[in-house]
Amino acid sequence: MEIRSVMVVGGGIMGSGIAQATAQAGIPTTLCEVTPALALKARESIARSLNKGVEKGKVSAEQRNATLGRLTFTTEIDTARKIDLVIEAIVEDLAAKDTLFSQLDVVCNPRTMFASNTSSLVIGEMAAMTKRADRFCGLHFFNPVPVMPLVEVVRALGTSDETMKSVVAFVRALGKEPVLAKDRSGFIVNYLLVPYMLDAIAAFESGVASIEDIDKSMRLGCGHPMGPFTLLDFVGLDTTLNIAGVFLGEYHESRYGAPPLLKRMVTAGWLGRKSGMGFYDYSGDEPVVNPALRA
Ligand code: CAA
Ligand code: NAD
Repeated sequence: MEIRSVMVVGGGIMGSGIAQATAQAGIPTTLCEVTPALALKARESIARSLNKGVEKGKVSAEQRNATLGRLTFTTEIDTARKIDLVIEAIVEDLAAKDTLFSQLDVVCNPRTMFASNTSSLVIGEMAAMTKRADRFCGLHFFNPVPVMPLVEVVRALGTSDETMKSVVAFVRALGKEPVLAKDRSGFIVNYLLVPYMLDAIAAFESGVASIEDIDKSMRLGCGHPMGPFTLLDFVGLDTTLNIAGVFLGEYHESRYGAPPLLKRMVTAGWLGRKSGMGFYDYSGDEPVVNPALRA
């Protein structure tokens, strides 16, 4: 089945990026958030990103306007009724996702396909909350979505061949590169990336070096575009903490346990860029190391 309409549920860092990518590819897209204020925030974030694309010469002014014209913002989940594909990008919490998919299963046409953008949860567990396990898969996009070309396509035990064919074609139509991943926590990228980010926090806590020097080392010594603390702030510390918790429950290996500092920072409301404070403080013109974490 060709995917001709998309609803993205959740308009945070990822949901707004995914909605931009689908609308930019010519697909009418509805973004569903919990409040009108959050829906407006998502719209503003997409407009900012498109304007940046125009500044960089990657998007024309016509494309920007057409993309915005293909987007609808709502707080009503019922509008998913006739959509071809619903992509979930809400908080990384199994109970919240299960509740959402149970609601969507009632609301949506039986042929509507569901995908989760989860970073760590098992797709089959969410599919089990619905009566459409054959039409359920993982579509794991990367941050920032408008720029990162990869999408992990995850086949759960019950996902049908037809659904896989449709979503792989959909990912290609977005101009992105699909890779097939097994339904294991973390799929391919996060299985490798998250332990690295947790190790960076543990290294800082055990006094290996300062935050700036660990970041600088991985940028200049390994050619990474961002050091691990910049990346942690970019991904979101709450999301990373939730991912670590899921990994620990799945693999029972202590290396997936969240370092104490990560827990303390999330408790303090320091969630990274999205809250303005994380390993770095984003309140000035340029990020500086969080004063509480200076060596
Ligand atoms: N639309 C289209 N293109 C855009 C754009 C936009 N809104 N904004 C930027 N671009 C393009 C730029 O034109 C540029 O393209 P060229 O290289 O062809 O010139 C490219 O994207 C990079 O843009 P910038 O120069 O503005 O930005 P930068 O060089 O500072 O790089 C970055 C920014 C791409 C974010 C880079 O720092 C990076 O790759 N960081 C690492 C990101 C990463 O690791 N992401 C994965 C996170 S983990 C995850 O997502 C999974 C999970 O579950 C947690
Ligand atoms: P975020 O905190 O930036 O945004 C989550 C959004 O979902 C919030 O705006 C919240 O209001 C909204 N929301 C929560 N419940 C909702 C509901 N029932 N209906 C509609 N909206 C709801 O989180 P994020 O970083 O965008 O992550 C979203 C998902 O994507 C998570 O599963 C995360 O693991 C995954 N992911 C994150 C990244 C990343 O780098 N941040 C990368 C890939 C995948």
